[in-house]
Amino acid sequence: MSTREAREAAWTALEAHAAAMRTTKIVRLFEEEPDRVERLTMSACGLTIDLSKQRVAIETLKRFEQLARAADLSAKREAMRDGAIANLTEGRPVLHVALRGTSGDEAANAAAAETRAAVRAFAEDVRSGKRAGAGGPFEAIVHIGIGGSDLGPRLLYDALKSFRRKDFVVRFAANVDGAEISDALEGLDPKRTLVVVVSKTFTTQETLANAKVARDWIAAAAGEEAVAGQIVAVSAAPERAQGWGAGAVFPFWDWVGGRYSLWSAVGLSVDAALEPGAFDALLDGAAAMDRHFFEAPTEENLPVCAAFVQAWNRLLGAGSYSVAAYGRRLQLLPSFLQQLEMESNGKSVDLDGERLPRLAAGVTWGDAGTNGQHSFFQLLHQGRDVVPVEFVLIDQGAEGPDAHRAMLLSNVLAQAQALLQGKTAETAKSEMMAQGETEMRADFLAPHRAFSGDRPSTIIGMTRLDPKTLGALLAFYEHRTAVQGWLAGLNSFDQWGVELGKVMANALLPALKGGDAPEGADPSTKAWLARLT
Ligand code: F6P
Repeated sequence: MSTREAREAAWTALEAHAAAMRTTKIVRLFEEEPDRVERLTMSACGLTIDLSKQRVAIETLKRFEQLARAADLSAKREAMRDGAIANLTEGRPVLHVALRGTSGDEAANAAAAETRAAVRAFAEDVRSGKRAGAGGPFEAIVHIGIGGSDLGPRLLYDALKSFRRKDFVVRFAANVDGAEISDALEGLDPKRTLVVVVSKTFTTQETLANAKVARDWIAAAAGEEAVAGQIVAVSAAPERAQGWGAGAVFPFWDWVGGRYSLWSAVGLSVDAALEPGAFDALLDGAAAMDRHFFEAPTEENLPVCAAFVQAWNRLLGAGSYSVAAYGRRLQLLPSFLQQLEMESNGKSVDLDGERLPRLAAGVTWGDAGTNGQHSFFQLLHQGRDVVPVEFVLIDQGAEGPDAHRAMLLSNVLAQAQALLQGKTAETAKSEMMAQGETEMRADFLAPHRAFSGDRPSTIIGMTRLDPKTLGALLAFYEHRTAVQGWLAGLNSFDQWGVELGKVMANALLPALKGGDAPEGADPSTKAWLARLT
């Protein structure tokens, strides 16, 4: 039997199990499995993940182990760790773990460590003022990059505000809408601002357009001679970056995917903005999660079990899941995860080019809690589609008044409980009547005020929001994403799906500058071109 056939057979067996489980109430599972909370809650590296509110029997995870064997999960994980060509469509290894020093490829670990030392020293020089702009020590960084060259650093900067040095700011510019770079530069001193241009390829339209504006801004204020000292680049194409005119260029490698790259020199802006040691603690946390992922047995392995549950929810028919991070500082987590998960696994063919028989990954979406409760949670509680929710909470170290912490945590627990337990129409009716409603009105309102419940959720608890635990959390998500891809048999490490639109945008550009519409443009596009020119 080929690997694909074995994998398919295991999926088919799981589908049969899903058909039986689809009508099983989650509350029934709590009755039938009294040790369910302990068995389905696992902890490592400062994270605790509670899967007990999912529609999984303990048995379900066991059954997934058969799929993991059929899909060669262990071999794939080791191949990635050791630097085999795991990204087959681009002919590259997948070695972001080397950025944390945990790869089996010692040469990759060493290259990453060498660059890390250079970035650490550079960040220290920015902090100490040894490296300064034309007008004195740097007081700001403008970080220019998009996608994987933006979302990770942006999330880190926001999430780790408590670990940032004072009187220093990082602004981010990603969008090619000119408003973004204008906003980023606004009010900053061009003689005391460091510009960090991050692009793996150094060909990305948005980044190069924004970098040129920043470059001209410095040159106009401080003279051409200031440019090299105030613009650095981070790229896997260092010659291109050098040719463009960056001063220092920090390399990374084509074996790091953009969305897996925040650990590399891509994190330089954040490193310089944090207190000394914080970025290294982030890497330590990720390294601890790598070791857990490589070594922990399946039933205790957080990324593996969490990937099983994600895949299971697809089998049960969920086309998306919502991530609700209960913490202002984690509000960018959903955008980060959107790229990580949807760019990695939003695919329709397996590694052999065969159409995938089922959805490999759904839509990732969400917002910070409690904000989401006052908007889309309506659909999560009463919409026809069941959307699994992933709650992320922070146990300790909350900022602000104590009372806020209690309110925040009571809300997250309440939401998960409400999704699970719901409320029957009968209960809704008797509550209303107890409050003085007429029976007729209570009958009318009851269906609107009833909650089906039985809606699955996961709770991920971080002991605290510090660099180390955040590193573990983000590495957890990286590995969970990879496992989902391996179970489906696809390549999580390419992103051909973003290319076609880029090519077409380049073809349309001349028309927007007054030229002719390109051949082959559809009538709707032509009509818009006519309107916009
Ligand atoms: O367009 C998608 C993408 O290629 C992402 O995968 C990547 O993170 C982003 O663009 C930015 O690319 P680069 O770092 O090469 O500028």
